[in-house]
Formats: sequence, C-alpha cells, structure tokens
Amino acid sequence: MSRNLLLGFLCLLTLNLPQVLASLLAIDYGSEWIKASLMKPGVPFDVLLNKDSKRKIQSSIGWKNDDRLFGSDAYNLATKFPTDSFNFLKYLQGVPFDSEAVSYYATLSAADTVKSSRNTISLRRSDGTEWAVEELIAMQFSYVKELAESVAGEKVTDVIVTVPPFYTQAERDAVVDAIEIAGLRTLALVNDGTAVAINYAMTRTFPEPEIHIIYDAGASAIRTTLVEFSTVESTGKGKPKTYTQVKVLSSGFDRRSGGTELDRRLLKFLVEDFMNKNQVDITKDKRAMSKFRKEANRLKVILSANNEAVSTIESAYKDIDYRGKIKRSQFEATASDLQVRFVIPLHTCLAKVGLTFENVTSVILTGGASRTPMIQQAVKTTVGESKVAANVNADEAAVLGAGLYGASLSRQFKTKDIKVSDVYMYDIQASYTTEPKEGGSSKIITSTIFPPSSKAGSTKTLTFKRKDDFSIRLLYKKTPFIDHSQGIAEAKIGGVAEAIANLTEKGVPEPVIKTTVALSESGFVSISDAIAVGQVKQDFIKGLFSGADSEPAVLTDESTTSEDMPKSLGLELTIPLTIDFEFGSTPPMTAEEKRAAHNRLREIDNIEGSKRRKEEARNNLESYLYKLRDLLGDESQTPFRKCSQPGERSAIQKKLEGTLTWIHDEADDADTTQFLEKLSGLESLERPIAHRYKEIEEFPKALNNSQMWNWSSRLFITEAKQNLTAEAEGGAPARYTKAEIDALEKALKEHEAWLAEWVAKQRQVPMSQDPVILTSEMRARAKTLENHLQKLWKKKVPLKKSNGSQGSSSGTPSGTGTSGTPPEDTVKIHDEL
Ligand SMILES: *[C@@H]1O[C@H](CO)[C@@H](O)[C@H](O)[C@H]1NC(C)=O
Ligand SMILES: *[C@@H]1O[C@H](CO)[C@@H](O)[C@H](O)[C@H]1NC(C)=O
Ligand SMILES: *[C@@H]1O[C@H](CO)[C@@H](O)[C@H](O)[C@H]1NC(C)=O
Ligand SMILES: *[C@@H]1O[C@H](CO)[C@@H](O)[C@H](O)[C@H]1NC(C)=O
Ligand SMILES: *[C@@H]1O[C@H](CO)[C@@H](O)[C@H](O)[C@H]1NC(C)=O
Ligand SMILES: *[C@@H]1O[C@H](CO)[C@@H](O)[C@H](O)[C@H]1NC(C)=O
Repeated sequence: MSRNLLLGFLCLLTLNLPQVLASLLAIDYGSEWIKASLMKPGVPFDVLLNKDSKRKIQSSIGWKNDDRLFGSDAYNLATKFPTDSFNFLKYLQGVPFDSEAVSYYATLSAADTVKSSRNTISLRRSDGTEWAVEELIAMQFSYVKELAESVAGEKVTDVIVTVPPFYTQAERDAVVDAIEIAGLRTLALVNDGTAVAINYAMTRTFPEPEIHIIYDAGASAIRTTLVEFSTVESTGKGKPKTYTQVKVLSSGFDRRSGGTELDRRLLKFLVEDFMNKNQVDITKDKRAMSKFRKEANRLKVILSANNEAVSTIESAYKDIDYRGKIKRSQFEATASDLQVRFVIPLHTCLAKVGLTFENVTSVILTGGASRTPMIQQAVKTTVGESKVAANVNADEAAVLGAGLYGASLSRQFKTKDIKVSDVYMYDIQASYTTEPKEGGSSKIITSTIFPPSSKAGSTKTLTFKRKDDFSIRLLYKKTPFIDHSQGIAEAKIGGVAEAIANLTEKGVPEPVIKTTVALSESGFVSISDAIAVGQVKQDFIKGLFSGADSEPAVLTDESTTSEDMPKSLGLELTIPLTIDFEFGSTPPMTAEEKRAAHNRLREIDNIEGSKRRKEEARNNLESYLYKLRDLLGDESQTPFRKCSQPGERSAIQKKLEGTLTWIHDEADDADTTQFLEKLSGLESLERPIAHRYKEIEEFPKALNNSQMWNWSSRLFITEAKQNLTAEAEGGAPARYTKAEIDALEKALKEHEAWLAEWVAKQRQVPMSQDPVILTSEMRARAKTLENHLQKLWKKKVPLKKSNGSQGSSSGTPSGTGTSGTPPEDTVKIHDEL
C-alpha cells in the first residue's frame, strides 16, 4: 500500500488540534524485530527510526563487557559472546520455567535461561547477573521510548503495544509488566491482526460490507484474523454521520510455524552438513551454533528471492571454515511438514464462525515471513491466487495501525472515524465450590463465562446465593498452549457473612452476591466488582403483610450469568465486598517487584549516564590539551602568539605539561569532576588571550558601527536645521523643534568626544595587552545614539492646513510608516545593519 498516501492523509487529520496534547507511542514488539511509531501533533505520523536510521530495530539486547547494546549491535554479539546476546525474548514472555517454550528457546539462542523467583524465566549474563525477561524487554521499551522522546522533544509516557491474538493472560501481563518497568503507561494492548485491519481500513471505504482475512506470518507464529469491514451510520442526536466499522470475527494461529521455525530447519540442515563433512559434533558449541544460526537467517532471506544460495562461514567451528550450497527445494524439503500448518489457521478462523473462503474478499498478507515463497504458495493454493492480496506494508502495517488505534482511544487526535470491535479467542470459565448442603457435600460447578470469540470490552454478572466467603476460579476451558497453565486467577470474595447479616438485619429477605467478570479491550479477564445486594420490599418497610411476590427468582447455588435481575419496587441496598486475587503458576509481577525492577533499570541508566558524562569530560579535556599544545608549539605569528605575553604562555605550558602527565598516570581512576576542573583551570589561563584576540577582531566592526550612527546623526541634524529654517520662512508648522535638534546634537557631540578619546587610547595598546575599551561598550553607546535618532524619525508629521490641492495627505495624522521615514540615504544605512 502506498505509505505516502497514508501519511498525507494523516497530516490532514492531525491539523486543528486542541492544546496540550501528549505524545503517543506505539510499539510492535516482535520476536525478531521491533517497530515503533509516534503520534504527536505537528510531527508527521510515521515509523520511528533508530540511531542508524533503520525503520525496524532488531529485537535484541546484550552486553559487551559493561556496555549495554541494543538492536543489531546486540544481535551481532551472539557469535562472539553467545551468552551475552539476548534475542527472541518474546518466546519467553509469561511462560512457566518448566515448559516447552524454554527447551524450544534453547534451539534459538545460546543464552542461559534460569528460573526466576516467580517460576518464570530469567536470563543469566556471563558475569552471573540474572535478568528477568520482563526487565530485558523493559530495557528495549526504554530504548524505544528514548528514540521517541528525541523525535517528540518531550517526555513520552503513553504506549500501545501489539500482542498476538493468542496471547494468554500471563503473556499479556508480562507485556504490561515490562511496560511499567520501563516507566511507561499502558494505554492498551492491541491484537496485531486487529492493528493491521485498522491500518487497512484507514485509507479505504466499504460501501458494501467486506470480509477479509489478515494473514500475519511473523517470526514466531502464523496468525489469522477474520475481519468484517463496513460503513455504519451512527445513531444518536445531531446530523447522521458515517463511520467505518472494523469488526473482528475470529482468529486462528500456529505458534511454532513462523520465520524463526524456518531458520531452525535451515540451521539443522547446515549444521548436519558441516558435521558430516568434518566428523565433529558442534551442537554444544555456543559460538559455532550462533554463527550457523546467523547464517541460517541470512540464507533464508536469500532463498526467498533466489533458487540457491552459497554459504561461507569462516572459522565456523574452531578454525574450520564451512562452505556449502543449498537449493531452495532442499530448504523447502526441510519444512515440508509445515506446509499444512501454514494454512490451518486460515481454516480455523473461518470454521469458528461458520464461514467459508467464499465469504472472504481477500486474504491480506502481512508480517516479515509472508515474503517467504513457501508460505505465499501455501496460502495461494488454499484460497486461490486471485484472493491473495499484498496491499499493506508487511513490516509496518501493524505498528501504524496500533498508533491509529491508540489515537482513537486517547481521543486527543482527530482521525478518521473508525470503530473497532475485537474478540478474545479463548473459552473462559468460572469455577467455584458450592456451599455444602445440609449433611451433604459440596460440589464444584464450572461454567463458561466468555465463550470463544466473545467481544473484548464486555462484562458479565454472576449472581450467587452464599452465606460465607467463597472463591471463584477463572480458567481456560483447555490449556491455551502446551505447558501453559489453565488457571488464570482465583478471586477470594470476602466479607460475605457480615454483609449478608447486615442486609438481613435491614430487612432484605433474599440478599445475594453479585460479581462482575470483565473481559477488557486489552484482553484481560478479571473479577472487577463484588457486592452483596438485595431489596427491601416496600411492604416490609411499611410493616404490612402482602401476598404479592415481586422478589427476584430465588437462586440456587448455581450462578446465573444474566445481566439484569428482575426489577422490583423497593429500595436496593448494596454492600461492597473484598476481592483478593491469587495467581497460578505464572503470576504477574507485584507492584513491589515492578518498582524494584524499575529502580534496578534506572540504576544502570544512571551508571551508564555518568559513565558517558565522564567519557565526554575526558574527551573534552584531552582534545583541549592537544589544541593548547598545538597553539604553544606554533612559533609563527598566530593570533594566539600575537595576543599573549611570554609569561602567560609559559604558565600555560607548565599547566599543560602537568595535566598531560596526570592524564597519563592518574586519569583512569579520576572522576568526572576532576576532568572538568582540569579543563576549567586551563581555560582560565587561555581565556584572557582569547578575549584580546576577539576584541581585536571586533574592534573595526564596532568602530564602523559607531561612526555610521555618528554620521547618520550628523546628516540628520544638518537637514533638520535646513528644514526648520525653510519651514519658518514658509510659515509651515515645524516638524522638529529647535530643542529637539539641539538635544540630538548634544548627544552626538558627547558620543564623538568619547569615541575620539578612547579610540585614540586603544590604538596605543599593544595586542598582547588587555584592551582599554570594550567593543561591547562601543556598541552600547552607538545604540543610545541610534535610539535617540530613531525616536525623532518616528515622530509624527504635524498636521498641515489643507489648501485644497494637497487635501489628501492631511487625513492621516498618525503616519509613522511612510511620512516619518528618514531620508533615503539614511534609510539605506539603517537597512545595512
Ligand atoms: C457466506 O457465503 C454463503 C455462500 O455463498 C452465503 O450463503 C452466506 O450468506 C455468506 N455469509 C455471509 C455472512 O456473508
Ligand atoms: C453494617 O451496617 C452498619 C449500620 O448501617 C454499618 O455501620 C456497618 O459498616 C455495616 N457493615 C458492613 C460490613 O457493611
Ligand atoms: C564599514 O561599513 C561600510 C559600509 O557599511 C563597509 O563598506 C565597510 O566594509 C565596513 N568596514 C568594516 C571594517 O567593517
Ligand atoms: C526635510 O524636508 C524634506 C522635504 O520635506 C523631507 O523629505 C525630510 O525628511 C526632512 N528632513 C528632516 C531631517 O526633517
Ligand atoms: C563623527 O562624524 C563627523 C561627521 O561625519 C566626523 O567629522 C567625526 O570625525 C566623526 N567622529 C568620529 C569619532 O568618528
Ligand atoms: C497650496 O499648495 C500648493 C502646493 O504646495 C501651492 O502651490 C499653493 O500655492 C498653495 N496655496 C495656498 C493658498 O497656500
């Protein structure tokens, strides 16, 4: 799709904004690449460039000794420092330590994974320090934040981050935790397919509803999003308006068939080839594996465009080079089992809502791996070539769409009117234990609260008849992915007995407990509210008997998920209850844990910042020392030499030598202040010399300026005097009084006298001595004279008595612009200033 078109369009839309708008950052966080975009009034909406002006940033972070690196610098570290280069961290978000994800990750990276205190994953650097996945990702977010802030020219806090639609609660929590550790605020998480759909809708209209599939082949996963686009007339007051409706119907996915899986297949091929040729086992050698891994990634890209690729890795293992050739067909053979997995998500998203390919207008390809011929071919074969569309930017549609979505949420930006409704793919259930029946036992009741493809941003109310505290467990009907926990959270509802007693005492006959289960726009499920509630019947209040039964149906232990209770007349009493959460095997970070992580990151930022300042101070000092050495060493008549005295030069020489020795012997242990002090000590010796030279250079210009105003004033006075005489003779009103002219003449004479005296004195001063008058004072005095003159120039022309033939000029008494202008030659000088 034409990006220019989109950008042009957005520039229009961001005009006429209200004041004080905060910038908004969107991040498409992928396992291989990070893309980011910034929305800020006055700044063209676009993808952020990194420090190398790249539109996408390698999703890597690493350390080279004490230096923290990001992007490709960090990625490229892997071949030399395999355990200090952290890549593909997305695979480790929100997963338990004992899981398939960790063993799969071991085939993608040589980094050491360790168990965190939360049973999630940390990575261990070669220096032994451990970093939680969330902390490492937070560092990447901070890095992007800094890029955004340098473009925005202000702090950026609000962020919207893309997530795959299949992300579970724990994975979404891990994203939000990283955002918070980075000191950012989550405006929303948006499913990446939905973001692409928004980007697609931005520049299109839909006179008839259309259904499309967003086919997103990323590095880690393939996902499909089935979307209906339509134009809807908004109801409500005012004139009817139309907006574009982007309605997600369902989604499908395969978590292990993206571009990185193809890399793995190629890696295996190359490594086996090498091992066969050399009869060695290199699978345990981290450096060798990292080299082959990088090569596999490179070959995959080449094989997307070519039928064969040549591979050369120098010193692939120890000092053995690798040389090989691979055909595209060989590569495809390594991934033949994936062919079917590439297209299953297409079928699943349709099957979930009972549609077929016939209902689909097009399948829109996006994501970096959608360029792989094998994947494209599989999609074409399944849906027919004519339905496959490559009309969005495969790399950037998601991050731009996320930015637009964020803009629509924040309501600060005026964008095309688009309404988005998304769905959540999992089957969410609530489970609880019934109160034991008299003499009997309790049982566990489990019921579906949000069936698959429920609308994100909706709530359900569960009503219980309970006497005591109880717990509600929220869980997935099925494990969302291998080794992921089925449980989401357990909510303990507290204060029940007291609240029920309280309500009963107040005359509520059948108090119940109502809990609200919310499915947020960002795909989080939680119990957002719990109350004890009941109605005091009016007849009860009046103390009358009544046979009428307007009570809500008495509930058994089973909950109902209706949103409305039968309304009856009477006073509704509610008492809030407490909700305490417990999380399963991969709990989100607690507020304290996040604060600690945030501080830990800030500490490295501070250390790096002061290290950077120290290096800067040292560099500044060193380059100054070399400059001084050159100045002192040059024996020709340089300005420095002409403007300095021998004693001054030897003092500088002495201090310079001392400082050079200090740099050599002690600077490595010195701190920033010492460098700054040394610098300013030397500067204070050189400053008088530089000052003299600057004054000498400035002097002719300042003198010229003084003489110019001297001359202009003189000219003015001569002319004004002549005019005054002429006016007096002709009986015309005088423009300037004699007093005014005399005052200017007096000022001029004083100026001339001062100038003549001091210029003469200054001319006697040798260059190596301090000047006796400063050019700044010359300019100030000239300015005073100038102001005096200007005041007279601007004086209003006095009213003339009209004699008929000149009537037209008399009507504008306040003409400061034209009639009060100075003589033409004076104006000319004035303009040259
Ligand atoms: C899907 O296609 C079938 C067959 O063409 C048609 O009967 C049905 O109405 C379509 N459904 C939608 C929602 O367009
Ligand atoms: C019960 O009712 C009393 C009086 O209305 C009130 O002060 C008290 O806080 C209530 N207790 C609870 C748990 O709401
Ligand atoms: C002084 O001003 C005049 C006229 O503006 C200019 O031609 C001349 O070069 C100036 N001299 C110096 C030393 O600036
Ligand atoms: C003198 O008179 C002439 C002619 O009216 C006018 O253009 C000029 O500005 C006057 N000069 C001064 C200094 O008043
Ligand atoms: C100021 O200008 C007058 C008239 O042009 C000239 O005679 C005099 O020498 C000037 N004085 C100085 C100090 O430049
Ligand atoms: C009116 O002004 C014009 C032009 O300045 C002059 O020639 C004429 O003599 C004036 N008339 C009177 C009555 O002053």
